[in-house]
Amino acid sequence: MLRTHTCGELGEKEIGRTVKLCGWVGARRDHGNLIFIDVRDGYGATQVVFDPQSGRDIHKLGESLRPEFVVKIEGKVKKRPEGTANAKIATGLIEVAAERVDILNKSATPPFEIIDDTSVTEESRLRYRYLDLRRPCMQRIFRLRHKVCKLARDYFDERNFVEVETPILTKSTPEGARDYLVPSRVNPGMFYALPQSPQLFKQILMASSFDRYFQIAKCFRDEDLRTDRQPEFTQFDIEMSFVTEEDIFESSEGLMKKLFKEAIGVDLKVPFPRIKYADAMSRFGCDKPDLRFALELVEITEIVEECKFKIFRDVVKNKGKVIAVNATGCGGYSRGQIVELIEFVKGYGAKGLANFKSENGALTSQIGKFFTSGELLAIRAASRAADGDMIFIVADKQKVAYDSMAGLRKLLGKQLNLIDEKEFKFLWVTDFPLFKYNEEEKRWESEHHPFTSVHPDDIKLLERGESLDKIRSRSYDLVINGAEIGSGSIRIHESKLQELIFKTIGIGEEEAAMRFGFLLDAFKYGAPPHGGIAFGLDRLMTLFAGCESIRDVIAFPKTQKAFCPMTNAPSIVDERQLNELGIRIKK
Ligand code: AMO
Repeated sequence: MLRTHTCGELGEKEIGRTVKLCGWVGARRDHGNLIFIDVRDGYGATQVVFDPQSGRDIHKLGESLRPEFVVKIEGKVKKRPEGTANAKIATGLIEVAAERVDILNKSATPPFEIIDDTSVTEESRLRYRYLDLRRPCMQRIFRLRHKVCKLARDYFDERNFVEVETPILTKSTPEGARDYLVPSRVNPGMFYALPQSPQLFKQILMASSFDRYFQIAKCFRDEDLRTDRQPEFTQFDIEMSFVTEEDIFESSEGLMKKLFKEAIGVDLKVPFPRIKYADAMSRFGCDKPDLRFALELVEITEIVEECKFKIFRDVVKNKGKVIAVNATGCGGYSRGQIVELIEFVKGYGAKGLANFKSENGALTSQIGKFFTSGELLAIRAASRAADGDMIFIVADKQKVAYDSMAGLRKLLGKQLNLIDEKEFKFLWVTDFPLFKYNEEEKRWESEHHPFTSVHPDDIKLLERGESLDKIRSRSYDLVINGAEIGSGSIRIHESKLQELIFKTIGIGEEEAAMRFGFLLDAFKYGAPPHGGIAFGLDRLMTLFAGCESIRDVIAFPKTQKAFCPMTNAPSIVDERQLNELGIRIKK
């Protein structure tokens, strides 16, 4: 090695020793004759002093160093003079008096300073990602990510799981997003799909008698991006044979316990609480509630069924829902604040937001005259409002009412400072519906993927093709602080049931054979009962690192437009390459 130590490790015990450090030139301070330069690497920074008394040449070299030059410094470790120690960095008690300097490489002037507290735009950070990744905070994130992967591998290895890699060039997997397609040169006109997840392969591995599979798997999905979504992301992917939900929960809870303790020092209590999908919807309006604060929703549809307020009554008549939330202590909200909230729920398609102020043991509102005092008292009691509170109400189609109120609940949680950012609240959500209705295409489709097993109590409904919206599945999600971190299910392993599911969602025999024939074939030869789960590593890392955006925990992420500003991918390709693939671009 060119160095004896990293830039993050020298302390009092090295005082008096001659050391060699390699790194990048960071902050520089000139104090009269003395020049101080922080030399930085991925481990930390060390202050190097250039003193003219050590020789004119060395001092001159110190003067010539510019930000981000790569240098090798040889010198003696000294205790910093009284009163100049820096408690903020690990090497803050010492400095190195430079005796020899080699410039290993020069650097162009960087477009931004390599410091944690930067105001540079994300576009610029992603364009110059190699510089952005030099920032100490980014170094910490990716070293932590490495540790989390190692901990997970160790955890699974200790429990006899086998890591098996599954193909990247494959067939479409049904996770509900669009596929990224890759044309095949040797099979003109044919395409591979990049896997949306290893779902089908991990199920086939169960049929191959690998009863405990895991993989740190790359997944690719062409979908609309949000702060917690990337087109290319990583899962801790798990599948097990001869299991029930309880086994998957136990393995997952063990994994989370280990990761939280050993990666970020947080002790988790297991088992995690569980809630059924239907209860999550009625209490929080969504299937991934943030349990760090209360503000539970209450349905008041029945209370207002016969009220004189036409908007509410019509919604009830049309089988919509009337949902209230008690914004505790918000009785004094100004008109302006209320208008802001009205605009907010309109963003979800809600037509309005009614508000009732709770004072003197009763409710007052601009629309109060449309309600009997009995109805008002019932609304107040159901919402558990006390004097000084404000009840907000949305009446709309079920989906709009739930979505808008779930959004409002979250917003109020933030506005009212109800969230302890240091807390982690875990929750299993179970008993999801098996199907959902696709309004656009006017057909039923799987809520998760079509290999999800049916709740045993609902098989009869499925067989009779009745009340498809009421049929529950054996799937589950792991939610932390309102984010879906993992999702999985007990799968179907009998072909009869699989065929019935395909039939119900309109996948005919021919289509099933074309899309999933290999899985159905594999299952003809003795598929064991099995189930699994996949955790989103990037979302977990966002929690561990306390970042706002998933892009901060992915070394080379894409923008919201699925673009990489560093490589300029995606980009146009040579006409020759297209010809080889037999592809012509439509102008
Ligand atoms: P699912 O599609 O729910 O299930 O994905 C599992 C977990 O992966 C994470 N995730 C994402 N993270 C970042 N960007 C994305 N675009 C993205 N999409 C999903 C989430 C999610 O909970 N094969 C099934 C799992 C199974 O049934 O075993 C699957 O992939 O944290």
